[in-house]
Amino acid sequence: MLLLHLNTVDEAAWVKRFRPFLPDMPIVRRGDDFAPSDVSYIFVWKPTADAFDKLDGLKVIMSLGAGVDALLAHPSLPPHPIVRSVEAQLTQSMTDYVVTNVGMHHRAQTRYLRDQKAKNWTQYFPPAANDICVGIMGLGELGTAAANTLSLLGYNVRGWSRSLKKFEGVTTFAGTDQFHEFLSETDILVNLLPLTLETENILNKATFSNLKRDGLKHGPAIINAARGGHQNEADILEALNSGLLGGASLDVFQTEPLANDSPLWEAPNCFITPHIAAISNPDSGAEYFARILIDHQNGKPLTNVVDRSRGY
Ligand code: NDP
Ligand code: OXD
Repeated sequence: MLLLHLNTVDEAAWVKRFRPFLPDMPIVRRGDDFAPSDVSYIFVWKPTADAFDKLDGLKVIMSLGAGVDALLAHPSLPPHPIVRSVEAQLTQSMTDYVVTNVGMHHRAQTRYLRDQKAKNWTQYFPPAANDICVGIMGLGELGTAAANTLSLLGYNVRGWSRSLKKFEGVTTFAGTDQFHEFLSETDILVNLLPLTLETENILNKATFSNLKRDGLKHGPAIINAARGGHQNEADILEALNSGLLGGASLDVFQTEPLANDSPLWEAPNCFITPHIAAISNPDSGAEYFARILIDHQNGKPLTNVVDRSRGY
């Protein structure tokens, strides 16, 4: 039996899309009449504190989220394998978000929006993409896809990860030893790291101070599409106000929703979106998760299993 526990997400849409892939599998939701001990698979998003209660027959936890930091912090998380979302539609959406926001900072979009409002005709020609360097923190599923697309668009792309990666068109760095070198030529810094003890608060004043200063006329920019826990919001605010940063795109926040009175809403050159960069939708995600479940039932190994010791 598969239990859906998708807080804030349209569970009925997922049930509908799962059906053709899992014709023989009972699919239930909380509130339905079922014996908790019959549940072998749970599919979760923002699980409540009692989400795993009485699931004595559980075998696999499937996470709608690609990021599992909150799930790993769940107070009653059972020890079963966690499979996370690694799925084409989610990856494409994240690449779309990154490309859009890189383009906005590269082409000084906030400046031109302001100028348009003020009917101000002042020419500033942004450098071409091949004179801009985008640095991506995290070269996993999402970082790699974004890096490849940005590279095809002509940007100089560098990437930073825990273990060294090698792929064409991207200059790669790894580990804390190479972090400063990675930052030093970066004009636009993109964060696609998982939130772990090592990566929390990584978007801070010291990081911003090490970015390249003479590439973009208005100063370097940051794009955070990973987790709010990566960013020091006071440092971002100060950096945008002082010009240490020329711009920021923030999709995630320490506290979500972002409070009405947060000064970030009105910070200069700051693009804010409400954690919408990417999510699996039922149309593509149901097939991905159903395949994992069927393979597991057929005795095949699980894929995209979270390594709890690494935290991602
Ligand atoms: P992956 O696990 O595939 O990739 C993580 C990458 O980060 C890997 O390259 C890993 O290095 C690197 N990394 C981890 N720890 C460190 C470290 N201490 N120092 C340097 N590099 C490190 O994750 P995904 O690409 O699938 O997703 C990334 C994050 O994006 C998710 O964790 C989630 O928080 C966020 N996300 C946000 C969404 C949104 O809508 N805003 C939507 C989806 C995801 P290595 O390769 O060596 O292991
Ligand atoms: C995710 C997210 O981790 O949407 O998938 O944030």
